[in-house]
Amino acid sequence: MSIMSIDQLTSTQIMETSPDAGSMTQEELIEEINRLRKERNAVILAHNYQIPVIQDIADFTGDSLGLARQAAKTDADLIVFCGVHFMAETAAILCPDKKVLLPDLEAGCSLADTITVDQLREWKKQHPGAVVVAYVNTSAAVKAESDICCTSSNAVEVVQSIPEDKEILFLPDMFLGSYVEKMTGRKMHIWMGECHVHAAIHPDEVQELAEKHPEAELLIHPECGCSTSAMYEVAAGGLPSNTALLSTGKMIKHVAQSPAETFIVATEVGILHRLQQENPAKRFVPASEHAVCPFMKMITLEKVYRSLRDDIHVIEVDPDTAARARRAIERMLEIG
Ligand code: 13P
Ligand code: SF4
Repeated sequence: MSIMSIDQLTSTQIMETSPDAGSMTQEELIEEINRLRKERNAVILAHNYQIPVIQDIADFTGDSLGLARQAAKTDADLIVFCGVHFMAETAAILCPDKKVLLPDLEAGCSLADTITVDQLREWKKQHPGAVVVAYVNTSAAVKAESDICCTSSNAVEVVQSIPEDKEILFLPDMFLGSYVEKMTGRKMHIWMGECHVHAAIHPDEVQELAEKHPEAELLIHPECGCSTSAMYEVAAGGLPSNTALLSTGKMIKHVAQSPAETFIVATEVGILHRLQQENPAKRFVPASEHAVCPFMKMITLEKVYRSLRDDIHVIEVDPDTAARARRAIERMLEIG
């Protein structure tokens, strides 16, 4: 018989004594997740685009900024991150003494993939002295080469915090970048990256829906392909004046205090679950039913259960990269 490592033995023993996730009902899976969450002092964090059942079992559901803040302040020993890789990595950077798990390693982000650390180093060489503002949708290595991070919730405030005489390199989302330019009046160098889900939400779809629902408020995520033209359309009167460009977290807050009854929502459709749950009397119309992030949908109850049971997959960032990336994230958290 071959000699097994302690790690192998442990996971084999767990497999033998625990029920197999594939044969369990949803109720059994939730029961086991709750038992393990308690036993292991774990917290489950979920992004607003997760499938409904994951949002429902999470201890906290929110946008990128809210999730980073929750990770930074949790006293749990284990964080199960139901989101995409860069989000779990951000949690691991902020909590070096905790174990951070991502239930599916394939849960990446097409936007984060639009810039590599080598490309950023090359860009910096062309603009010596420029301040690098990195959207959190980036790898740890890219964050480590950046001066400050931002999310869609605080990008305007982050750019406003940079001295007027400084050149700014903003990456990697071009639609968010032009929104920030418009809101701050600052000219920036913007990386031409985009999220394939949001970039596909076109201005003509949104325009058509706005005409069909003239009473509706229009909520647009600044990553959307329609966001740049929406800003000009609102100014020109082509879209309702009650159009707002908001992060997913700000959409949730906005709807709660708005007197409107109908909302056209231009972002990934996962957010409609929470909007509807928290506002049962209001009506939500997706700007595009095809706006589905395949990475966000990779996390399932089975995978969360296996993750908690077998420590699948531990997200680690090498300490030097983590320390440099942490500076950029913490600067952002100090601002807003
Ligand atoms: P939020 O920070 O608005 O949740 O956006 C994150 C994201 O990945 C958008 O696609
Ligand atoms: Fe990345 Fe786009 Fe998915 Fe957000 S919706 S995680 S930006 S691919």
